[in-house]
Amino acid sequence: ARLAVFVSGGGSNFKAIHAAIQDGRINGTVAVVVSDVPGCGGVTYAQQHGIPTLTYPVVKKGDFVGQGLTAAQLVDGLKNAYKCDYVILAGYLKLIPQELCRAFPRAMLNIHPGLLPSFGGKGYYGERVHKAVIASGARFSGPTVHFVDEEFDTGPILAQRVVPVFPTDTPKQLAARVLKEEHAVYPHCVAALCDGRIGWREDGIPILWEAK
Ligand code: GRF
Repeated sequence: ARLAVFVSGGGSNFKAIHAAIQDGRINGTVAVVVSDVPGCGGVTYAQQHGIPTLTYPVVKKGDFVGQGLTAAQLVDGLKNAYKCDYVILAGYLKLIPQELCRAFPRAMLNIHPGLLPSFGGKGYYGERVHKAVIASGARFSGPTVHFVDEEFDTGPILAQRVVPVFPTDTPKQLAARVLKEEHAVYPHCVAALCDGRIGWREDGIPILWEAK
C-alpha cells in the first residue's frame, strides 16, 4: 500500500514506521511526506531517503507567504500524483482540511500521546497532554491510534498501549515513556492497515485482526 505521512517535528513516529517498512514488518511504501514545517526533522529524514516532500498548508510568516499547497492541491496530489491509499499523521500539528478527510474515509490514522477520549481535543498536544495527565493524578497513560474525522482527536479508536504514571514524573519523563510505546503501536497499526486486517463493528468501532 502507498502511504502519505504527515509530520511537523522530529518525525520519530515516521522513522519508526519507515524502519518497519525496511525490515518487512509493514507491506507498504512511503510515497510522500507532507509537513507544515519545511525544515523539520521528519522532512530532512525523508529527503535523505529519497522520499518526495510537500508543504501544507501555505506557510505564512507576517507578510511572507512561503511555498505550500492549497487544500485542493494537496488532495489532488495525494490522490492522483502520488496515488496514496492511506494517510498517516505522525506528529502533525495542524488541522487536517475537511476535503482531505472526505478523500480518505476510514483511511487516515493519527497518534495521540494520551488515552483518548481523556486528555484530547484542541489544545491538548505534546507536553500539554503529559502535564494534564500528571496534574490529574492518573496512574496510567499511553498512546492512542485512531482514525481521523473532522475534529481534533475525536475519530474512532483503533489501538492503545498503557504505561504507568508515577506521581513524581516530570512531563519529559512521561513523554519519553509514552513515545517508546508509540513507536511500537503505530507500526503495528500501519501494518494491519496495509494488510487489510482492519474490520468495522456495525456501530463504527474498528477491529484490528492480528496477523497469524
Ligand atoms: C508525539 O508525542 C506524538 O504522539 C505526537 O507528536 C509527538 C511528536 O511525534 N503526535 P514525532 O516524534 O514527531 O513522531
